[in-house]
Order: sequence, then structure tokens, then C-alpha cells
Amino acid sequence: QLECILYRAQDLTTDEDPGDLAELKNGPYSLHKPGPALARAGLSYVLELKVHAKQVGIIGLGRLPDGWHFSTEDLQLLSALAGYAAIALDNASLYRSVESKALEMARLKAYADNIIESINVAVAVLDQDGCITSCNRAFEELYDISRAQVIGTRVEDILPASVIAAIRGIAGKKDWDIQSPVDIFKQHLQTRAARKLIVNLSVIPLRPAIMPNPGSLMVLEDITERVQLEDQLLQAEKLSAIGLLAAGIAHEVNTPITGISSYTQMLLKETPDSDKRKPILQKIEKQTFRAAEIVNGLLNFSRLTGSEFTELDINHVIKESLSLLSHQFESNHIKVESQLDFSLPPVYGNMGKLQQVFVNLFLNARDAMPSGGELIVQTGMEESMVIIDISDTGVGIPQENLKKIFDPFFTTKRPGKGTGLGLAVTYGIIQEHGGGIFVDSNSGKGTRFRLKLPTRLQ
Ligand SMILES: Nc1ncnc2c1ncn2[C@@H]1O[C@H](COP(=O)(O)OP(=O)(O)OP(=O)(O)O)[C@@H](O)[C@H]1O
Ligand SMILES: [Mg+2]
Repeated sequence: QLECILYRAQDLTTDEDPGDLAELKNGPYSLHKPGPALARAGLSYVLELKVHAKQVGIIGLGRLPDGWHFSTEDLQLLSALAGYAAIALDNASLYRSVESKALEMARLKAYADNIIESINVAVAVLDQDGCITSCNRAFEELYDISRAQVIGTRVEDILPASVIAAIRGIAGKKDWDIQSPVDIFKQHLQTRAARKLIVNLSVIPLRPAIMPNPGSLMVLEDITERVQLEDQLLQAEKLSAIGLLAAGIAHEVNTPITGISSYTQMLLKETPDSDKRKPILQKIEKQTFRAAEIVNGLLNFSRLTGSEFTELDINHVIKESLSLLSHQFESNHIKVESQLDFSLPPVYGNMGKLQQVFVNLFLNARDAMPSGGELIVQTGMEESMVIIDISDTGVGIPQENLKKIFDPFFTTKRPGKGTGLGLAVTYGIIQEHGGGIFVDSNSGKGTRFRLKLPTRLQ
């Protein structure tokens, strides 16, 4: 039946009287002589609770219910208990401060994680052994891989060996204890879903602030579109320079060719079939036709021919071009499959030129499939642009040629077979339409050309 009130030191010091405050804080806490504040609270005995000379509280005692004071034995027992109580109080307050520090840490970590999660470059954190300890959403999206597949995996098992070799080459190290940042620009990369990307890649060592070997940060930035744009600009410049030259030459050469061609035809008419010179004249005629074809290609390329733009149905243009070549496909054992979206809005363009584009692409596909195959033509919409995909199952284009195929006069066909103007002309026409042309090819498997055309000339 002890009537005890247990106060914590800081609870007592909330008293507003400055004298009381001082007394509660500093004593005197002599056992039988409590100061006026404690006396007013009805307390006649005070025991101090101390841990390592630090006061954590006091035990104040009133009287027993019958009005008597505590006995000496009671007090002895209490002062023995006071030691334990002091430690318990101290532990509780230590626990509270640890808890609030842990909360603060968790908050800071969530804050840092949030920043990394929301930036739109792909970030992965590597430990000193090259093991990925975390990554952000952008990393998952860029590399077509889930976090669960990434975390705990060695970076060598995720990135292609060529990229790892490039990093090692710059860092000059075999392990992942990288000392200074490594930057690799325009690195070609294939994602887990076999998407081809161009990225800028950096590996930045983390500063050893708390841990001695904190590892490093790997940052991947997708620059595929930027590089494509740069390439297109470059291509456009190249084309306009060559276009000017070509236009001049074509004009000059056209007149003599027309001369040779018509005189040869005149001579042919006058030469009887029995004449030995007749086959020679026929060869000359054939060669002049070929020369005229090249010159026409050049003139087309330099866009000296007229171009009237109207709203037109692209599916119709495709069907016309396909039927123009249907015989060619048949005799070459090429199966044509068209998957046309008939709900497409009209494209603003030039019928003749777009037909030339399709014929060029179809003929290239035919040439890529000398022993037959499949040509697939698909149309559809993507972000207000009309998309036309032309895929073949032909020989494909080697990586090192992909950059050159749109260059005028680039050809892999034997002399007399191709001029290398087809794709250059195609590129120019698509450019003129405010569209884009993209190529994706797997050597030995096939090629896909993707055309994007605006529905209205912007
Ligand atoms: N579908 C394709 N498959 C494989 N290679 C292709 C394909 N399309 C183009 N190429 C490659 O690109 C090169 C350039 O094509 P382009 O149409 O510009 O010229 P060409 O076909 O060689 O000659 P031209 O079209 O002037 O008669 C080709 O020689 C070929 O190597
Ligand atoms: Mg061609």
C-alpha cells in the first residue's frame, strides 16, 4: 500500500515557477529535506535516480495512508530499487532516441531512393565486386529487365561482354574497385528484349564517406533518337551537296546520251538482220538506255522533276506498286503478304514519288531474296504518323553497311546491276514529305524498312 508517484525529470521541470524549475532540476534532493516545490507536491522524501552520475529522474515519497512516514527498511529497499529504475528509465530514453534516429535514417533513405527512382536516366548501384545492389525504374525500362532479375546479379552477367571490356579498358582494372569516373559514348547495346539501343554509359565511383569501399554508380542514358537525328542531319547535308553536283552533271550528260541513243536507233533501222554489226549496235542501244536510266535517277534525286502534293490513300499507292511488280515477285518465288490498315487517314504527298519509294524498296527486297522468300507490307498509325513497314526474309544488311546504304552510289550489287541511287532517292523523297525512314536488319535473317509519313504537310 505504498503511495508512490514516479516522475521523469523532464516532466517535473515543466513547472512554470523558475524557482521550482531550478529546484527540480538541480535539487537539493536530500532524503529528508525536500525543497519547497516537492514539499508542496506533498512529497517528504526524495530519492535521486542516477546513471553514471547523470540524473534521469527522482523518486518522491509522500506519507503512508495512515499518515506515518516510511520506515528505514522501506527506504533502504526503495533506494536499492532506485538503481534499477534509473537504468530502466535511461534505457527507455536511449531506445526512444535510437528509434527516432532510425526513423530519420529511413526517411533520408526513402528520399534518396525517390530521387534515383524518378530521374529518367537508368541507374544501377554496384558494390566493389561488381554485384548490382539496386537499380531504378528507368534501368528496368531501358534494359527490358525486371529489378528482381538485376539485383544480386553480377554486372558481367547482365551487360554484353563488349561493354564490360570497354569499361575495363578505360578503368584499366580487372575488378570493380574503380577510382575515377569512366565515360563511354555512343555505345551500341542490345537489350534483353533484343531492342537495339545507343547509350552513353558512365561508371562513377561512390565516395568512401562512411564505408571504406562503397562501390560505384552505373548510369546509362538512351541517346538512340538523338544519334538518329544527328545521322539524318548529316545525311541531309550530304544529299544536298551531292544533289547539286548530280543535277549539273545529269543535265550535261543527258544531251549527248539522247544523241547517241537516237543515232544508234536510226542506224539499227537501216541495218539488215544479216549484218554482223547489228548485235553491236543493239549492245550500244542497250547501254544508252542504261545510261539514260542512271541520268534519270540522278535527276530524280536532285528533285528537278515537278512535285505536286495532294491528299492520297497510301494503301492504294502500295497496292498499285505491288501490282506493278507482281510478275517479278512471282518469277522470283517471293510470297507477298500485305496487312493494310484501311482506317488510315490520307497522307499528304506526291503519288508518283511515293510510288517510286515503294518500287525502290520492293526491288531491293526482291534482290535480297534471290532464292525466294517473303515480303510483308504493313500499314498502321503511330503518334499521328502513318507507319509503313516493309519486311523481307532476305540476306540482310551487315552492321557496317547500315550507315552507308542511304549514301548515293553505295551498292553491293555487281556492276551493271545496281547504281546505288535507289535508297538515296527514297531518302530524299521521304525527307521532302516531312517523314522519316528507318532500317533494322539482321544479317542472314532479313531486313525491315519503316517509313513514317505525316498525315498533313507540317
Ligand atoms: N532489303 C534489303 N536487303 C538487303 N540489302 C539491302 C536491302 N535494301 C538495300 N540493301 C543494300 O543497300 C544497298 C543500296 O541500296 P540502293 O537501293 O540504294 O542501291 P541498289 O539497290 O544497289 O541500286 P539501285 O537501287 O540504284 O539499282 C544495296 O546494294 C544493298 O546492299
Ligand atoms: Mg535499289
